[in-house]
Amino acid sequence: MSQAGKQTVLTGITTTGTPHLGNYVGAIKPAIEASRDPNSNAYYFLADYHALIKCQQPEQVHQSTREIAATWLALGLDTEQATFYRQSDIPEIPELTWMLTCQTAKGLMNRAHAYKAAVQENEEAGGNDPDKGITMGLFCYPILMAADILMFNAHKVPVGKDQIQHIEMARDIAQRFNHHYGEHFVLPEAVVDDSRAVLPGLDGRKMSKSYGNTIPLWLPEKKLRKAIMKIVTNSKEPGEPKFADESALFPIYQAFASDSEYAAFVADLENGLAWGEAKQRLFEKVNAELADAREAYQHYMDHPQEMETILRQGAEKARSEATPFIQRLRRAVGIQAMG
Ligand code: TRP
Repeated sequence: MSQAGKQTVLTGITTTGTPHLGNYVGAIKPAIEASRDPNSNAYYFLADYHALIKCQQPEQVHQSTREIAATWLALGLDTEQATFYRQSDIPEIPELTWMLTCQTAKGLMNRAHAYKAAVQENEEAGGNDPDKGITMGLFCYPILMAADILMFNAHKVPVGKDQIQHIEMARDIAQRFNHHYGEHFVLPEAVVDDSRAVLPGLDGRKMSKSYGNTIPLWLPEKKLRKAIMKIVTNSKEPGEPKFADESALFPIYQAFASDSEYAAFVADLENGLAWGEAKQRLFEKVNAELADAREAYQHYMDHPQEMETILRQGAEKARSEATPFIQRLRRAVGIQAMG
């Protein structure tokens, strides 16, 4: 809930996978910057219940949760200002999920893109069960997400375009609950920042784990250099002019450089700078930005109990709101002590 006049901004990070440069540029860095805005109240959490929908390998879920927590802390998230917690530490969230599930039209869930895509895949594969392999977790995914958001009455939810529909569903669900039980929930809005860089990967397509074209964020220096050397270019020789549409090197450099540094980089390549040298410059730039944080990351990975302490403090802060709020909601739906 908002402190006087402040906007509550909330977003979750699903704990599958290893953070890469695309996550850093497109989501983590802007979120950490936004959390410093004195006019907003940021809630960032590790969506480990969401991870179970996509990944049924316990060690992978756990490892990813550690890596993502260490990443946000190493990059300087101020956990005094922002509330940083693990979804699974807030038992009020699954409780709210159930209350919302009982207000959610099944037809609304039938329309969810992720579910529809899975059904379509089954139909295209020609089997006789369109719901093959689809769990209730996947089907109800938007309700868990609505609970995440409504639990803290978030006003703004920064997300990628693929998540807009889920925020709209959270609004629908909140509206229906409010209509039935009284005004309890703020109606959230998705915030999609089009100016946010979508970083290309090694091959020029969007950097994404599913394309196998990522540069992991916390590679040791030598491996980072090696990965950057693999960015696809063309066969132009040193001395030949090279242009911004010819390699992902350009936008990746741009994401880490000031405007004037980027302009100089472009000019040098147009004047024939060799691809190899351009890659070396990019490596130096990225490495300079990440070197200190890399040490902090390693520190957290080596001292998981420090992260645990921070996450528990975050959970305590979050629950100081969630616990009284769920009590109010329980009463609203008719669940309360006898006398
Ligand atoms: N589903 C989101 C994603 O995959 C992660 C997420 C879970 C989330 N709960 C949320 C994002 C609540 C915003 C608000 O990106």
